[in-house]
This record gives sequence, C-alpha cells and structure tokens, in this order.
Amino acid sequence: MYRRLRGLALCTGWAALLAALLYMKQEAKPAAPRGAAGAGGRARAAAMGSAEPSRCSPNLTLANASLALPELHRLFLTYKHCRNFSVLLKPSRCSREMFLLLAIKSSPINVDRRVAIRNTWGKGGSVGGRSVRLLFLLGRSEAKPQVQPLQQLLAYESREFDDILQWDFVDNFFNLTLKELHFLRWFVEDCPHARFVLKGDDDVFVNTYNIVEFLQELDPERDLFVGDVIPNARPIRNTKVKYFIPEPMYRAPFYPLYAGGGGYVMSRETVCRLQSTAEDMELFPIDDVFVGMCLAKMAVTPKNHAGFKTFGIQRPFNPFDPCLYKELMVVHRLNPTEMWIMWTLVKDDTIGVCVAASLFFWRS
Ligand SMILES: *[C@@H]1O[C@H](CO)[C@@H](O)[C@H](O)[C@H]1NC(C)=O
Ligand SMILES: *[C@@H]1O[C@H](CO)[C@@H](O)[C@H](O)[C@H]1NC(C)=O
Ligand SMILES: *[C@@H]1O[C@H](CO)[C@@H](O)[C@H](O)[C@H]1NC(C)=O
Ligand SMILES: *[C@@H]1O[C@H](CO)[C@@H](O)[C@H](O)[C@H]1NC(C)=O
Repeated sequence: MYRRLRGLALCTGWAALLAALLYMKQEAKPAAPRGAAGAGGRARAAAMGSAEPSRCSPNLTLANASLALPELHRLFLTYKHCRNFSVLLKPSRCSREMFLLLAIKSSPINVDRRVAIRNTWGKGGSVGGRSVRLLFLLGRSEAKPQVQPLQQLLAYESREFDDILQWDFVDNFFNLTLKELHFLRWFVEDCPHARFVLKGDDDVFVNTYNIVEFLQELDPERDLFVGDVIPNARPIRNTKVKYFIPEPMYRAPFYPLYAGGGGYVMSRETVCRLQSTAEDMELFPIDDVFVGMCLAKMAVTPKNHAGFKTFGIQRPFNPFDPCLYKELMVVHRLNPTEMWIMWTLVKDDTIGVCVAASLFFWRS
C-alpha cells in the first residue's frame, strides 16, 4: 500500500487518485486510527455516518434573519455558535525539542498535494540543524459519496505518517475559522513546546531553509507574527466574489491588518495568546481576517516580509534576478508538479534558484 501511495507522488491525476481510493477500500483493515484519544473506533464511526445528528442546534432566529443572504453565509450564521467539535484523527504529541511546526490546511480530497509536500519541502526531520515537523489540518469531506473512502485514506495516512489532525466538522471555506480555533487548542494542549509555527495552505511552496534561518535568532517567548501583510483591505461587498461579506457581518470600511492565510509564521508566545483571545471572539468566516482581528485585540502588529508571496508576485519583475528568490519564504498557488520542480532547484545550489523562478513565471 505504501508503494502505491509513493507512486501517487509522481502522478497527480484523478485516475491515480481514484485507483488509490478503490485500492484502499479493498485493503483497509478495521484498525483504529492513531490518536483520537483511545476512542478511534467510535470517532471513525461518527465520521462515516452521513446523517449523524448535529450535537449543536441551529440558531433559527439568525437563520430567519439572514434569508436574504447567500446560502453559505446563512449557514455560517446559523451555526456560528457551534465551536466545539471532536477530534477524529490526531498525531502524537510534539517533542520538547521541536523548533518549527509546519501546520498546513488541507482538504481530505487533496491527497496529491499532501504526498508532494511530504516528499519535498515538508520532509521534516532536521533543517539547518533544527527539528521541523509537518502536520496537516483537516475537517470532514463534504461530498457524501467520498466520505467513507476518504476517511479510510486519512486513517491510513495518519498511521503511516503521523501527520494528520482532523476534526468532526465539514471541511469547507467557511469553516476555516473553526479549523484555526481547533488548531490553536490542539497546539496549547499537545505541542506547547514548539518554538515557532508556520501556518499555511497545501498549495504553497515553503523554503524551509530560509524560514529556519530567519527564525534562528528570534525569541519564541516574545510576540512574533510575520507574513504577507495587507494594510487597508476593504470587505468585499460584491455577492459574486468568494470573499463577499455583507454589511451586517462586518460594518467597518476596513479590515484590521492581517497576513494572507497562504503562509505566515508565529512564535509560540503569539500562538498561545491567539488561542485564549480566539476563545472570546465571535467567529468570522474568513480565517486570516479572523486572526487579524485577534491580533488587533492582542495589540500585536503583524509584520510584513517581502519573502512571503501569498498573493503572487507583483509585476514588473525580473525573473532572472537571483536576489529576488534568495529571500523567498513562501509562494502561493503551486500545483504538486511545480512543488517538485521548485524543491529540486532550490535544493540544488549549482543550478541556482533563478531557474525555478523562471519556470514559475513562464506559467503565470
Ligand atoms: C441566536 O442569535 C441571536 C441573534 O444574534 C441571539 O440573540 C440569540 O441569543 C441566539 N440564540 C441562540 C440559541 O444561540
Ligand atoms: C423561522 O421561520 C419559520 C418559517 O417562517 C418559522 O416557522 C419559525 O418559527 C421561525 N423561527 C424563529 C426562531 O423565528
Ligand atoms: C464549548 O466548550 C466550552 C468549554 O468546554 C464551553 O464553555 C462552551 O459553552 C462550549 N460551547 C458550545 C457552543 O457548546
Ligand atoms: C461547518 O461545519 C459544521 C459541522 O460539520 C456544519 O454544520 C456547518 O454547516 C459548516 N458551516 C458551513 C458554513 O458550511
């Protein structure tokens, strides 16, 4: 089975994924997944039942009051008060020596991205002499026919790689804030010694060497929040855009300072303070803005760093300028093939990172 999945690393097509899923369905043994606090079997059963009763009832007053809003916004408001979900799969606790935790938001279906990350920049182990660990954050699959095979796949990944942290809520865009909140709780509980955290998406490329070098001199006991910081962002009032936010959900003309959710780094101190702050905040559907709101309450100013390119790289640029990439920390929106290419070239000093860069820009 392991070899099959390894093979998947190289072919990212649907055919391969489907084959893997079918294969797993036949082969999967009824073993309890790792973690899930000894309640593996029960937790699994809960995840598989497609019509499980909700333990948190909808707020019908809010549902009625938001009939004019798009369906997803209405759903969000109706269930906004539901913020305690159980863990389905969890990894072993972090070691005391951990320097950097790579906490990557993924969706159950994105197995090709997880395979690519595990084999490239997310390899973990030792980077620049510091201990680095990769972890994926997930909810439940939304599409009913896929729920069971994907759950088996995740249970397998959890056993094999010990890098799956999954909760019992639907994994969709509007539940990313729930993912944030639950991740913070897990960190405080099971990973409190990690010095720094990089939180990001599963379609980013992270230059872990540069990140570790950057963090090397910094103090994990002091506040630190660094990324692609957006000043004066306005809430989008156009209903057709994914990030649409109606006035009743956010009235001010600007969002607080926040860093693009594609990838940012934080110190342990900031992660722990974020957790206690987030507990007292109302959920907001856009997760990186929600974190910005928490930071504002904590009086922590997110710092901008040019190496975090979560919104793509600004034109005009010179793709052959090696200095541009030497400083690169995070680049957003790469597919698994591009991750492999970039990783190979970033690792290979003799070829130089410029080549990776020009390949990247050829496409955009
Ligand atoms: C439902 O939402 C309304 C409006 O925000 C609030 O006043 C009420 O307390 C909520 N009810 C429940 C059961 O959460
Ligand atoms: C919501 O609307 C439905 C249908 O109009 C109505 O039956 C129900 O009583 C309303 N609930 C609340 C809490 O306003
Ligand atoms: C969630 O859990 C916390 C602590 O266990 C509790 O105080 C809170 O009321 C719970 N919230 C809901 C909506 O169940
Ligand atoms: C978030 O997940 C919960 C639990 O699965 C679900 O009830 C809710 O509808 C989801 N929210 C959105 C906006 O889809």
